[in-house]
Amino acid sequence: MQPGSAAETFLLPAQNSTVASSVDDLYMFIYYLSIVFFVIVIGGMFYFVAQYRRRPGGPKVKQISHNTALEIAWSVIPTILVIFIFLWGVRGFLDMSLAPKGATEIYVHASKWQWEFEDLDGNKSLSELVVPVNKPIKLIMSSNDVLHSFFVPNFRVKSDVVPGRYTTIWFEANKPGINQVFCTEYCGTGHSAMLATVKVLSEEDYMKWKKESDEGPTWGDEELAEKGAGLYKTKTCVACHSLDGSRLVGPSFKGLYGRTEEIEGGPSVEVDENYIRESINEPMAKIVKGYPGAMPTFKGLLKPREMDALVAYLKTVK
Ligand code: CUA
Repeated sequence: MQPGSAAETFLLPAQNSTVASSVDDLYMFIYYLSIVFFVIVIGGMFYFVAQYRRRPGGPKVKQISHNTALEIAWSVIPTILVIFIFLWGVRGFLDMSLAPKGATEIYVHASKWQWEFEDLDGNKSLSELVVPVNKPIKLIMSSNDVLHSFFVPNFRVKSDVVPGRYTTIWFEANKPGINQVFCTEYCGTGHSAMLATVKVLSEEDYMKWKKESDEGPTWGDEELAEKGAGLYKTKTCVACHSLDGSRLVGPSFKGLYGRTEEIEGGPSVEVDENYIRESINEPMAKIVKGYPGAMPTFKGLLKPREMDALVAYLKTVK
């Protein structure tokens, strides 16, 4: 195994970025150091409890109130250790803070409850960031509403995503594969569903993907509904729309197609393909009565065939 690419262990996630192994080295150093001191302190305590317990006839040792050499030792040794840990940590922190020159810049927009990625050419994607292996990627992140936090455990990078300002992190993935992204700042009902993935592709696969993603998927009609079921989860519809009729942030999808919805400040509509498409692209156009109108727009985030797939799937949710 080459350094910096260890697989997942019981203690730690896989090391899938260039900084992961150095983060883990410091972590394990602190971990084992803590074990050493735990044994010394707790072991010492048990030893003293047993050795100097109350015995008939009173204490057999003379009382000691002061030991200068011992006191200097237990002050100086931990001080040296924490300075050492600090310097080690600050070096790693600076490595992780300063993106290398020439890193590919990607904008990340967080909103309740989805992650949207946009490259400098204006290509957007929802919930999935696709990047090439062995290339530094810099994420410039901001939030459209509340505090979120972007965390990729396999990369050991994490940063709060704050409304009204940019925060940045960078990473360089060291092997192809899929890496889970979590939101790690409690941001409301859909917080736990605010997931995304970073898909790392080899240089060759990345070029192929780039070409295909410009064109969008070419799913056949027979698999549309099935693909739509997948999109319902990966495009985060699931965070706000239930399938079983229960009320979440938005109306349930149970029996959606063909039902008549009362619209806030307008005539009621029968849900058809066009209403579904409009509600995805312009959620504020026709808000169902009694709901908050909290949905972000998905305009530009779905390829034509993906829209078809979602519509086909929603028809099947009875
Ligand atoms: Cu976004 Cu928690």
